[in-house]
Amino acid sequence: MKKLERVYFLYFCVMSKLPNITTSIFSVMSQLANEHGAINLSQGFPNFPEDERLLQISERLIRSNIHQYTPMAGLPSLLEKIANQTLKQYGRKVNTASEILITAGATQGVFTAINTFVNQGDEVLILDPSYDSYEPSVLVAGGKPVRVSLNDDYTPNFNRIESAISTKTKMIVINNPHNPTGRIWTEQDFEALETILEKHPQILILGDEVYEYITFSQPHISFNTRPKLVERTIIASSFGKSLHVTGWKVGYLIAPEHLMFEMKKVHQFLVFSVNSFSQHAISEYLDVVDFSEVSKMYQRKRDLFQNLIKNSRFELMPCDGTYFQVVNYNQISNKNDVDFAKELIVNHGVASIPISVFYNDATDRHMLRFCFAKTDETLIAATEKLNQI
Ligand SMILES: Cc1ncc(COP(=O)(O)O)c(C=O)c1O
Repeated sequence: MKKLERVYFLYFCVMSKLPNITTSIFSVMSQLANEHGAINLSQGFPNFPEDERLLQISERLIRSNIHQYTPMAGLPSLLEKIANQTLKQYGRKVNTASEILITAGATQGVFTAINTFVNQGDEVLILDPSYDSYEPSVLVAGGKPVRVSLNDDYTPNFNRIESAISTKTKMIVINNPHNPTGRIWTEQDFEALETILEKHPQILILGDEVYEYITFSQPHISFNTRPKLVERTIIASSFGKSLHVTGWKVGYLIAPEHLMFEMKKVHQFLVFSVNSFSQHAISEYLDVVDFSEVSKMYQRKRDLFQNLIKNSRFELMPCDGTYFQVVNYNQISNKNDVDFAKELIVNHGVASIPISVFYNDATDRHMLRFCFAKTDETLIAATEKLNQI
């Protein structure tokens, strides 16, 4: 089929639900990085070895009798351990049988939550810059994404959030700690949100907390600890992020029973049960792993990365959590951020992600995102190149 015919077919015959979605910038940047042999600090995944203890558990388990379907909501021992961890970390008692759902990564959790509750024409507030899976999930559900910009320092702007609420608002998505900016929400932010949402009891919250164990300046404040909001909140988390196994694609949702009951119906026909091997391995690994080590390890990497480029011409933005560092390159170039990111790969051998791609309107403030979930050697080699620019 010729290109024009294909476009016509997609728009008018198939009626694509996602006509504007093209190849993601992550693939574009990674491919360009590969072609030019650049150091890849673009995509958000670790390049250091997995924990030896997890590998040993996996080696043993692969030959044991664990390869058939688990119960639909998840392996009971894993659900139990998530409940224990949620109690230990946040003081929230969740019901193992009715309030936790194991998902194929947080991405599926987000998609399931949105597609369970968002109906045709419902509006969903998304705070820009935002992670790229929220909008397509809303569009597939027939909803309308309403993008609300964060402040210039990437903190939430509550006047904008309040003005964006309408009678059609069904949900607000809050990602904290925040990808791509590395900012985290404060106590005052939660209080401001509580004040607004008190007036709108119909609005659900989707709390994307996949980086909950990666915060530096202050501990993460989870929706699990907000009694005023928790009854209408679905929390998404990711073992991929917390345990450095992004490719395993195992995450989970926590939500009160009345919401979870509905989500399980959708999950049942989208996935049924998540792969058994990873659930068994993670369940055993949770007996030995210490989540408090995760922030320490990444704080060391953040500090290393920041120290290594502090004398460069890149300006470091605050990074309170996640494994992303945003930098401004105003002193180097006035090219737009997509072109500059490409130039950085082709001419200087380092791949990043331009922040404009996380905005609906491609707001370009000359910012790039670097992922520092990398070996020290990778960070040293990348910053040597960045320092020469
Ligand atoms: C904010 C955010 N939410 C969700 C996800 C997806 O997590 P998972 O790999 O568990 O699907 C990511 C992954 O990059 C993310 O950054």
